[in-house]
Amino acid sequence: MSGRCHRFFSRREALGLVGATGVTAGLWGSFASGQSAGARASRELEVRLAKASIVEGAETEGLVSAVADGPPPVLRLRRNTPFKIGVTNRLDDYTSMHWHGLRVDNAMDGVPYLTQFPIGKDQRFQYEMTSPDAGTFWYHPHCMTMEQMALGFTGILIVEEDDDPGFDFDLPINLRDFRLDGQGRWLDLWTARGAARSGTFGTVITANWQVEPTYEAPTGGLVRLRIAATDTTRIYRVFLPDADGRLIAIDGHPLPAPVDIPKTEETALHLGPGQRADIVVRMPLSEGQSITLMTDAPGAARILANIRSIGSTLDRSVSEVAALPPNPVSTPDLNAARLEEFVFGWSPEGDLPNNGLCGTLGYTFWSINRQPWPGDAVEGTGPLATFKLGESVVLRLRNESPNAHPIHLHGLAFKPIRSNKRQIAPLWTDTILLQKEETVDIAFVADNPGDWAFHCHIIEHQKTGLAGYIRVLES
Ligand code: C2O
Ligand code: CU
Repeated sequence: MSGRCHRFFSRREALGLVGATGVTAGLWGSFASGQSAGARASRELEVRLAKASIVEGAETEGLVSAVADGPPPVLRLRRNTPFKIGVTNRLDDYTSMHWHGLRVDNAMDGVPYLTQFPIGKDQRFQYEMTSPDAGTFWYHPHCMTMEQMALGFTGILIVEEDDDPGFDFDLPINLRDFRLDGQGRWLDLWTARGAARSGTFGTVITANWQVEPTYEAPTGGLVRLRIAATDTTRIYRVFLPDADGRLIAIDGHPLPAPVDIPKTEETALHLGPGQRADIVVRMPLSEGQSITLMTDAPGAARILANIRSIGSTLDRSVSEVAALPPNPVSTPDLNAARLEEFVFGWSPEGDLPNNGLCGTLGYTFWSINRQPWPGDAVEGTGPLATFKLGESVVLRLRNESPNAHPIHLHGLAFKPIRSNKRQIAPLWTDTILLQKEETVDIAFVADNPGDWAFHCHIIEHQKTGLAGYIRVLES
């Protein structure tokens, strides 16, 4: 391992990039980080208002971040190592923080009323967690979720592997939209029309809060892109034309063997809100050449980010990219598994959401098992299903609507095992993108006790009824 660290740093030094100025320096400082160089045991975050230039030539105020002028910071922790993170709320509204995909103690899961009381203005809540899994995860508020996420609060969280996998550069790419006009002023964050359909789409597609940013990475080096789709609505369809690379992990969990990356619109990887992909690309062999990360969007494909080769060539090869060590997820016993069916569909006519302190859109459009969820507040509402600790479970997820839904389960990792519409890879995940009118069976072992939120990650769907929770008993 020390050999690998040495190799990393000697390469970096050999490139003469340490102490470089401009874009490159900022990049090393905030994004690129050698294995264990950036991991910390504790952090403090202040949820606060921010301003930044997202639309060229204009400044947008009223953003929500943990820094004054950019996206919430990339958090790095180490696997199996306790991590403490204090969250102080400097907003007038309540908040709470959720660590999307991390299998942590239920009390640290950040879901208002279900696991904690919302954090009021100038209050601090200390989260403490130890992640058994390494990989690319993310974090976001789970109270005033629609507003705070739409205004910017979505950050990447990295749990480092025990041993450095030996890539030359690590580049987190936080994909999200903003709803801004041409002068950088806010449009309505959501619309009732959108909430009742596929969600309200942003007008500006960004990577790390920038439109088509260009990053620099070592010529001929292996670069790990940690792509996180953190938008409230958009399903990104990512591909990398002409790039040489391998997909190594989805939703934080390693693939058993790396596979080729998508290079065309037709083969694009669909990442619904909440999903992640770890992709290793080999940088072009001549300095100054670029790799482009794109998304297929209505009308035309768009550039998300460019990565340009810099320095003399490292001459790495994608054949060096091996599978990452698997995360320690228990395998469900499918013969003994208990089957529960959940139907995702319209809401019956009925009550407006009970909002508690965490905001409401004022409408009910969606439901799970015909029961719309009352916003983020759960008081007086029971679990969708209760499981014994250690029980093997199959959930049959039936989407009876004509819209796609990225369905997310907190606190547990699951794998899809069959679909009525397509071949589906049985890869561990926390978020499954259900296609229209698709039924997918997912399986897991209920081995983390607590009340785990279970909802669509199109936030307008979540906040208008498509949410609930499951209970895993202590014994
Ligand atoms: Cu990423 Cu309940 O959320
Ligand atoms: Cu949905």
